[in-house]
Amino acid sequence: MATLKPFKFSLNVITNYLFDLFYKYNFGNLCIWLGYHLQYLVVDTKDVECILATNPLVNKSDIYKLLHPWLGEGLITSSGAKWQKHRKMITPSFNFNILNSIQDVMKTNSEKFIGKLKEISRSDNIFDFQEVVNNLTLDVICETAMCVSINALDNPHSDFVLAVKFMCYNSYKRLIHPIKRYELLYRLYPEYWEYRKQLQIYKDFIYGIIDKRIEAKKSSQNTNPSNEQENEFRRRKLFFLDSLLEATVDGRPLTRKEIYDEVATLMFAGHDTTTSSITFAIYLLSRHVDIQQKVLEEQNRIMAGNLKGNATLQDLNEMKYLDCVIKESMRIYPPVLFFGRHVEKEYNLNGKIIPAHTSLLIFVIAMNYNEAIYPDPYRFDPQRFDADQRTTTQNPFEYVPFGGGQRNCIGQKFAMLEVKTVISKIVRNFQILAPEDGLESKDGYISTLYGPQRARAPKPDKYVPTLLHAITLRAENGLYLRLRERE
Ligand code: HEM
Repeated sequence: MATLKPFKFSLNVITNYLFDLFYKYNFGNLCIWLGYHLQYLVVDTKDVECILATNPLVNKSDIYKLLHPWLGEGLITSSGAKWQKHRKMITPSFNFNILNSIQDVMKTNSEKFIGKLKEISRSDNIFDFQEVVNNLTLDVICETAMCVSINALDNPHSDFVLAVKFMCYNSYKRLIHPIKRYELLYRLYPEYWEYRKQLQIYKDFIYGIIDKRIEAKKSSQNTNPSNEQENEFRRRKLFFLDSLLEATVDGRPLTRKEIYDEVATLMFAGHDTTTSSITFAIYLLSRHVDIQQKVLEEQNRIMAGNLKGNATLQDLNEMKYLDCVIKESMRIYPPVLFFGRHVEKEYNLNGKIIPAHTSLLIFVIAMNYNEAIYPDPYRFDPQRFDADQRTTTQNPFEYVPFGGGQRNCIGQKFAMLEVKTVISKIVRNFQILAPEDGLESKDGYISTLYGPQRARAPKPDKYVPTLLHAITLRAENGLYLRLRERE
């Protein structure tokens, strides 16, 4: 492992800095100081396999502690026996029946979303697509996790919507800040008080929903089940909050705080990631006209006769080319850039001894640009993920946008369902255009501010995304494009 000196970072240059380091050290693992923290950045496939599967580490790295005041000890942030029990308890909530009922939530919300896009994109208007998608995914996750409609698409400035956005953005910035990471030191910054205020709004809202749901459950138990009107609780049993209210751990129901932690966690994990995935896939389609055309041809074939309608689960399963586009898009712009594990006791990483009490960060974005695995990595080429072209010698741990092993993403199927539903609908309804004519890729390569591609095309247009490099990937400068309604 190469060892480097401490570095002074700024939010805008961190991605660039890390990209350059990975090239300099030939895509080997790196060891860097982040403030006072020594971090091991792991990119070697065999080492990733070791950490996730062969000699698995399941406890999360210290970096996640910063999320505790917000997400408590939910699935993402908990460790040890608590994580194991809760994972076992929550896994059935993601079964096939629930995916089916979630699809209904997605259908209604995506229809509304298309209506919103029609309004916003009138007269070839250029707009920030990322912002609108974020409102959609928030609506979807609120309805599926808590059974409430917050209608962020129509009310993007409500207190709760602003609090969610504040908490996500604030946590990203703190996570990579050497001083603000510590709650005690963070108190010295004036913004701390805004953080406390927003956190309170967030908690009050979610606790309010939980309390109402507990009441609804009690009254549904006390009344005659044949009564149609009061049976709303039973009819909607398949939603996450309801399954948490029914669940038990160690033979007892979950406490109110435990329920809050899991709901807050799903809210966070289940919307920012899908926003990122949908946004960057649509961005790439806006710049790669030939690939957009192929996606449309597949849509026309599968959805023939129902072009403006809703895709069924079976239709979505048949959209193999769209699948490849989403996978390739998540290779170029992985929604989760890295995830971490804590080393409790000295750990043998394929012969490299990692001392106790250190953090290992699996650096997904760097893995995805390794030329030894992805020749010509700056080319947007969905064909790479075509099942017929993948060889059996490929290691599944080469590509881990959803993590891997026992602690992989529990919402992977949910996510793919949502992302596919939304992209499929957009492509069938709109021609996706770059913000100005002439910005489309001429050679199949992406325009980027990072890595050697920067030297190849030194002056990308002003709409090329500046990647905000912190847990979930987003475009710091927004993601601007145009949509033109199809006949
Ligand atoms: C494109 C979308 C998504 C991506 C790329 C993604 C990626 C990931 C990754 C990389 C992890 C960490 C795995 C690890 O530490 O090994 C994770 C964990 C998790 N994800 Fe997702 N995720 C997505 C969507 C979702 C959705 C929609 C939900 C819920 C509705 C969700 C819920 C979770 C939870 C609860 C965990 C923690 C699992 C555990 O530690 O047991 N994710 N996700």
